[in-house]
Formats: sequence, structure tokens, C-alpha cells
Amino acid sequence: MTSFTSIQDAINKASGAVSIRGWIYRERGSNKLKFIVLRDSSNIIQCVFERTKFEKCWEEIDHLQVEASLTISGTLKQDDRAPTGYEVQVSDFKIIGKSENYPITKDQSTEFLADNRHLWLRSRKMVATLKIRSTVFAAIHDYFRKEGFYEYHSPIFQSVQCEGGSTLFSVDYFGKKDVFLGQTWQLYAEPAIFGLEKIYTISPSFRAERSKTSRHLTEYWHAEMELAWAEFKDIMDHGEKLLKHIVQKVLQENKAELEILERDASKLLPTITKPFLRLTYTEALKILKEKCKIKVEWGKDLRTIEEEKLTQLYDVPVIVTHYPKIVKAFYMTENPLHPDVVQGCDFLAPEGFGEIVGGSHREHDLEKIKQRLLDQGEDPAEYEFYLDTRRYGSVPHGGFGLGVERVIRWICGLENIKDAIPFPRTMERYKP
Ligand code: 4AD
Repeated sequence: MTSFTSIQDAINKASGAVSIRGWIYRERGSNKLKFIVLRDSSNIIQCVFERTKFEKCWEEIDHLQVEASLTISGTLKQDDRAPTGYEVQVSDFKIIGKSENYPITKDQSTEFLADNRHLWLRSRKMVATLKIRSTVFAAIHDYFRKEGFYEYHSPIFQSVQCEGGSTLFSVDYFGKKDVFLGQTWQLYAEPAIFGLEKIYTISPSFRAERSKTSRHLTEYWHAEMELAWAEFKDIMDHGEKLLKHIVQKVLQENKAELEILERDASKLLPTITKPFLRLTYTEALKILKEKCKIKVEWGKDLRTIEEEKLTQLYDVPVIVTHYPKIVKAFYMTENPLHPDVVQGCDFLAPEGFGEIVGGSHREHDLEKIKQRLLDQGEDPAEYEFYLDTRRYGSVPHGGFGLGVERVIRWICGLENIKDAIPFPRTMERYKP
């Protein structure tokens, strides 16, 4: 049986006999020669068929089209004109799967590519992004495991909201109406820290976002952590260390992919080498006013445009802390000195990418939590299971959630978050 090497290994080998397999990325031909650029998951390489060697099956070779799959054996040769510097002079080949009139050609509309997402996944840019995505997931797992966190899982079907009722997806659960898709693992994670103390997850979260922005999905992957015996600063420190670790891993492992995406990797370096900037919400408003000429009324949440302008000023993520209580979720600890602000933070990615992490210290006062639920129109009785966490041996604790696609979008420098996930789900798109 022929043993195949990856295209990258063939390029590394540089000369001699080789057998490779993959899909046709590009093809062109003349009466005497057929040039095929073959791709596999590792790279691309030019392969040349000479008619004199394949007279009997020339028609078949001549008709090969983009995305047909084949195996090729031949001899490697250096050739500076070839796209990756090497060429295979083909001595034998086998067509494995034909492809005719592949629908994706140059200059297709975004809509067309979205309709054909299942095919677009093969594009070089998508493949590069998906490799970086794989590194990001691995980096999250290694960070938390090295730090002694247990992987823990909350249910996806949930009976209460956590991040505001307006973005809840209801599910028809055997006719019952009070079942929702989880916006976060949090309310089901807090009870677990009383046994496990340090926990994390990477899981899908769901938000019925009506906004058509470049950073909202209705289904996204959420890396979350919850830590017992934690002060607010511990939460921010973990967020900062995690992001540094992720970016470092991508820079180590995905140089080639960042190049394919035309992402200037030097823009990511300060994230690893410099401390993140920590600003209070009130300080952020002052900077917005003085440096960006944008006036935000105290008490209003920062909008996308304001986050963009603020983060364009910096080359490292900015951690904005102490937001007004009224714009944040019910579970955040009131600041002891200024109870109108909370010990919550958003990490904003530089270069205008905006929020990628949201976290907080958790309010320990049972009565305050109940009151804030009531203020938000919620019935505390529905939250009894959660309130028990404050009744029996409560300890200071907190956590954060990192939007994995938001981080990938920033690292890859993508225009839109939709390209950070294989099959994006938005208000308008749930097919294919
Ligand atoms: O700030 P959020 O809403 O915080 C929580 O869900 C907390 N319960 C997390 C925790 O403390 N365990 O969401 C956290 C992050 C955001 O910073 C953002 O990166 C991402 O989730 N996110 C989204 N990503 C893509 N599409 C959306 N619609 C998102 N909504 C939030």
C-alpha cells in the first residue's frame, strides 16, 4: 500500500519520490502540460502532469476541475515559480472523487458564501482561521488545567435568566414555556464551587441578539471560570493571564495562518509583553471625552462605538472596571465605598475590537440579590436554588466569561465575528 505524506512534509523533504493526496485548489493547462495546485490540511503544492507521460488518459487529466480529490505520486523539485517553492513532477495519480462546476469562484457575494458555507469551509482563509480556533481552544484548556481548575458542565436547558430577559431563547420543552437556552453557565456553576472551588468550562451559550453587528452571534462558545475564595482582583488577574497565554500560543503555533489571514502579528505582541491597562468606568468616560471627543452620560453603558474609539487608543487590552450598578447584572458585588458601582469588569480588545471578556466578583448579600432581582422584574422564588449558595457557607467568589469567537476575531483581525465560527448563527442566519 502507498503511504502518503502531508504536503507540508513533502515540502520539508524538498527532493526525491513522494506520494501525496488532497484536493485541487487551482488548475490550468495547455495542450502539453497540466498544472494542478493540490491542497491538503497542511499546505498547497504545485503538481505538473506532462502529456507525453499520460497520453492514454490525457482527456481525464485535462478535465480535472477545482476541488476534485486525488492521490499523486511523483518526484519533488525546487521551483521558485511555484506557489510554495516546490513542484511535484507527476508519475502516477488516481482520481478519488470528481468535482464538476464547483459553485465557489472568485468574487462571490458574502451572502452566496454564507449560503455555501459548507463548501466555503475549505477556503484557505477559513482553514487558517479554524486552525487558530483549534489553538485557542487548546490554550484555554491548558491554562485552566495548569492552574488547577476542574472542567465542569452546567446544563444548556435552564429555568432562569442570568444576563437579562431580553436575550433569552425560550424552548418548547414538552409544552412547558419556562425553559431557556443557557446564556451562561454561571448560575449553575456557582453552586459547584462549594465542592470543587476552581472550575472552568468551554460550552455554547445562546443569546437572542437582535443586533446585526460584527460582534454578535446567537450561538457562541463561551469559556467561563468560577473561583472560590476570590477577590475581584484575582478574577481580573486570571483573565489577563489567560488572554496572554492564548495569544502566546497562537503566535507560537500559527505564524503561517496569521500570514494567510494577512494579520500583522506584531500588533499582538504587546498583549504578551505589557501589562493590560486597568481603568474604572468613570476614568474611561473621561478619556473618551478628552481624547475621542465623545461624551457619555454617567450611568449609560458603553456602546460598541465607544468601546471601539477607546480601544483604538491602546495596543493592549483595556480592563474597564466599576460600571454603574444599573447597567450590570444582578449578581455583581456592590463596591463597598460607592454602592452605585459594582465590582464587575469588561476586557476590551485593542485596535477597536471591543469587549471580549465580562466578569465580576459575586454579591454575597442575600437580601441585596433578592432586591436586585425584583428591581429587574424577576421573581426571586425562581432563583431559590441559586440563593441557597448564599445561605450555606457562602464564601467570596467570582468568575468571568470569555467569548471565544470574539477573541478569535481579534487575534485573526477578522472584519466580522461570523468568520470565527464554522456555521455562524445570527438573527438572520440559521442555515445551512
Ligand atoms: O458579559 P457577559 O454577558 O457575561 C456573562 O455571561 C457572565 N455570566 C460570565 C461569567 O461571569 N461567567 O458575556 C461574557 C462574554 C462577553 O464578554 C463576550 O465576549 C461574549 O461573552 N458574548 C458574546 N459573544 C458573541 N456573541 C454574543 N451575542 C455575545 N454575548 C456575549
